[in-house]
Amino acid sequence: MASCGIDFGTSNSTLGMADADGARLLPLEENEATLPSAVFWAEDGPPLMGRAGINAYLEGEEGRLMRGLKSTLGSGLISERTRVGTRNVSFREVLARFLASIRARLPAPVSAVVLGRPVHFIDDDPAGDAQAESVLAEIAREIGFEQVSFQFEPIAAALDYESRLTREELVLIVDIGGGTSDVSLVRVGPDRARLADRAGDILGNDGIRLGGTDFDRLLSLTAALPHLGFGAATKGGAGTMPRHYYLDLATWHRINVIYSRQTLTDLKALRHEIDQPELIDRFLRLIDGHHGHALAMEVERVKIALSHDEAARLMLSPLCGAPNPVVRREMLEGAMAAPLTRLADLIARVLAQGGVKPDQVQTVFLTGGSSRLPVLQQLLAQMLPGARQDRGDDLGSVGTGLALEARRRFG
Ligand SMILES: Nc1ncnc2c1ncn2[C@@H]1O[C@H](COP(=O)(O)OP(=O)(O)OP(=O)(O)O)[C@@H](O)[C@H]1O
Ligand SMILES: [Mg+2]
Repeated sequence: MASCGIDFGTSNSTLGMADADGARLLPLEENEATLPSAVFWAEDGPPLMGRAGINAYLEGEEGRLMRGLKSTLGSGLISERTRVGTRNVSFREVLARFLASIRARLPAPVSAVVLGRPVHFIDDDPAGDAQAESVLAEIAREIGFEQVSFQFEPIAAALDYESRLTREELVLIVDIGGGTSDVSLVRVGPDRARLADRAGDILGNDGIRLGGTDFDRLLSLTAALPHLGFGAATKGGAGTMPRHYYLDLATWHRINVIYSRQTLTDLKALRHEIDQPELIDRFLRLIDGHHGHALAMEVERVKIALSHDEAARLMLSPLCGAPNPVVRREMLEGAMAAPLTRLADLIARVLAQGGVKPDQVQTVFLTGGSSRLPVLQQLLAQMLPGARQDRGDDLGSVGTGLALEARRRFG
C-alpha cells in the first residue's frame, strides 16, 4: 500500500515517501522540500500556503496571515473562529486546508500516513494531549487518508540518523523546533533497523512545549516591545502598562488578536495614562499597518542572525517608527535563562529514564531549527562532554524518518 510521512511542524512542514531504495522528501513549494506552516487568508479567493502566503502578507495584500498553527492544537484556540474578510473560519478548518495542500503534492493517491507528533503537545495535561492528537487524526481522515497513525518526532529523527549508520550505538536525539523540544534516548544500528518491534530500543522519551517561537517571544519582550510601551510607567509612575497586549503581539499564534476593535479602543484609552504616549503611538502605527507578523519575523531574523554574529540590529523603524536597537547575543541568552534550565532538566530526565550515565551516550544527534543556537550546543557539550555532536538535515530529518516508519508499517 502506498504510504507517506508528514511532519507537520510549528514553523515548517515536510512530506516524505520511502521505497526499497530509501526515503526522500517531496517538493512542496516549487523545488523546496519545506513548506513554512503559514496560511494567508485573503479577503477573497483561496487561501495561500507557505512562502506564497507570507509574501502576499509582506506585499501588503488585505487578509489574515496565520502562523504557529500547530500550537493551536494544544490550546482552546483550535475550536475558536477567527475573522477573515467577511467570513469566520475555525483554526481547525485552517489546519485542514494547510494539510490538504500538502497531501495534494503527492504524485499518486496514497491512503496511509504516519504523522509526526511531539512527545507532548502540551505539558502536564494527558487529556489535552490526547485531544490534540485525536483532532489531528480526524483532520487527516477528513482530507482523505484512510489509515492514520503517529510516531514521535524524535523517534522519527532517530530512524533517519540510523539509516546512515554502519555500527550500533546509543544516541540521544535532541529535536528543538519551533514549538516543542523533544528528546529520545535510542539504541540504533543497521541490524536493529531491520527489527519489526523497536519498543525495546527506546530507553527514554520526553518533551516540553518550548521552542523557537518561545525564544522569539522572549526576545521580542526584551528587545523590541519596550520600545512600544511594554513595561512602561503609567500615571506618573504609579502603575505600569497591562502586559497582555504585548504577550499577544509576541506570540506567533495570537498576533491577530491585536487587530481587534477592543484592543484599539483600549490602547487609545491607555494613551492618556501612559507617561510616554509616543510609545503607544508606535503600537498604534504597527496595528494600522498590520505589521504584527512583520515584527515577529524581524525578531526571528535577529534571533537567527545571533546564531552566527555577536550582535544584530533590529529594524523597528519601518514597522512602527521606533529606533532600531542593536541586540547582542548575551541579551538573547539572558532572556533564555529559564528555558535553558527547563531543557537541561528535560535531558537529565530522559537519561534517568533510561538509567544511563552521560558518558554512556556516544552521540548527540541535534535536529530542528532551534538546535542551531550556540547556547544549546554549549549546554549539551557541558552535560555530555564525552559524546560526539552530529546533525543532519535540521528541517528534514523528522519527515524523512516518518517516511521510513510509513514504509515499515504500511509497505
Ligand atoms: N540558525 C538558527 N538559529 C536559531 N534558531 C533558528 C535558526 N534557524 C531556524 N531557527 C528556528 O527554528 C525554528 C524552526 O525549526 P523547525 O522547522 O525544526 O521547527 P518545526 O519542526 O516547525 O517545529 P516543531 O517541531 O516544534 O513543531 C524556528 O523557531 C526558527 O526561528
Ligand atoms: Mg519539528
